[in-house]
Amino acid sequence: MKALVYHGTRDVRVEQAPDPVMTQPDDIILRVTATAICGSDLHLYRGKVPGLKSGDVLGHEFMGIVEDIGPGVTKLARGDRVVVPFTISCGQCFYCEQSLYASCEKSNPGRGAIVNKKSATPGAGLFGYTHLYGGYAGGQAEYVRVPYANVGPLKLPQGLDDEQVLFLSDILPTGYQAVLNGGVKRGSTVAIFGAGPVGWMSAACARLLGAERIFIVDHHPYRLRFAEEAYGCEAINFDECDDPAEEILVRTGHHGVDASIDAVGFEAKGSTVETVAANLKIEGSAGTVLRWCIAATRRGGIVSVPGVYAGWIHGFLFGDAFDKGLGFKMGQTHCQGLMPELLEHIMEGRLKPQNIITHRMRLADAVQAYEIFEGRKEECRKVVLRP
Ligand SMILES: NC(=O)c1ccc[n+]([C@@H]2O[C@H](COP(=O)([O-])OP(=O)(O)OC[C@H]3O[C@@H](n4cnc5c(N)ncnc54)[C@H](O)[C@@H]3O)[C@@H](O)[C@H]2O)c1
Ligand SMILES: [Zn+2]
Ligand SMILES: [Zn+2]
Repeated sequence: MKALVYHGTRDVRVEQAPDPVMTQPDDIILRVTATAICGSDLHLYRGKVPGLKSGDVLGHEFMGIVEDIGPGVTKLARGDRVVVPFTISCGQCFYCEQSLYASCEKSNPGRGAIVNKKSATPGAGLFGYTHLYGGYAGGQAEYVRVPYANVGPLKLPQGLDDEQVLFLSDILPTGYQAVLNGGVKRGSTVAIFGAGPVGWMSAACARLLGAERIFIVDHHPYRLRFAEEAYGCEAINFDECDDPAEEILVRTGHHGVDASIDAVGFEAKGSTVETVAANLKIEGSAGTVLRWCIAATRRGGIVSVPGVYAGWIHGFLFGDAFDKGLGFKMGQTHCQGLMPELLEHIMEGRLKPQNIITHRMRLADAVQAYEIFEGRKEECRKVVLRP
């Protein structure tokens, strides 16, 4: 089959890859009909995450038609149309039983990413996301093996097209979990850092839950403009404003927001020193956005972090967070538990995640698609690839 294959930093190729084979009774083989490129794929593309091997197939946002099923698959049949969460979860372990699907302790034969790991189990396996997360082949491909198929894939009703439901695989539940973790409710004020797909999905979900005021911070004018137009956000461009956190304090009567959402993660721009330190691996992650979040959140508020972090950060003002009595919630998304209710919202027309799509391309053109999305070219918001 054809797939998008990793060969090294900024070196991905569409080429022939091995056809997936079922190895467990509850596996399925999916014929992919649509797949997307995620901001998380850009961390891999830029060579910022260890654990990839040349030849690995990338991609964790995908959907399609069930091509083949193992003898242990009870919930799906050949020909079913499904969207697949990026988190691979067994559904039965200590964590899955508590709906903490991204913490599944059965699905990841890899090491996971914790530095001070000791004997703790790693987080769940992820599609196309390095051998730290199990080395599973991803879905930017014609076909993909989906393990634990009785737990992950969500069967889709008739009448919805691929673009309406594709983002149930990752960024929509991620935005939803971000606002739930932030305690966002009717009347809340929210600050979202990062006007990318995860930031926009967070804004959409904050609106859904009745947030009153949403600030959004980035430095790409076209991305900020979309957040203003689509979700009624108040935009702050950090290239034009020295200190976005102070700006948010001023605009909220010096209290700050009820919740801050870090939809940027460890490659945050804004501090040259930290960017260089992170590149030299003296620093695990750039802490710019976390500092802005802590400073922009009111006393007793919550900092919610869907953006990916790795390792340590020196400039993390834990004392400030203590003084303000802040709460922190973060981590990979527990997709499986959130997908059914989000599907309802899509069916009822309350969420239209497909609005962010700007680029529709062939899988064969995936290399160009990575260049466009990573380079923020052609005002790219989100790319959907079709095999
Ligand atoms: N928790 C999860 O399960 C999960 C799921 C999906 C994505 N993610 C992570 O969420 C993050 C965002 O993903 P995305 O798809 O929106 O990526 P993206 O790269 O398209 O968008 C990130 C945005 O952040 C902006 N940015 C950079 N530095 C900033 C700063 N200092 N302040 C404000 N904005 C800044 C960039 O200009 C860009 O527009 C990534 O770290 C991704 O890995 C996590
Ligand atoms: Zn993702
Ligand atoms: Zn599990």
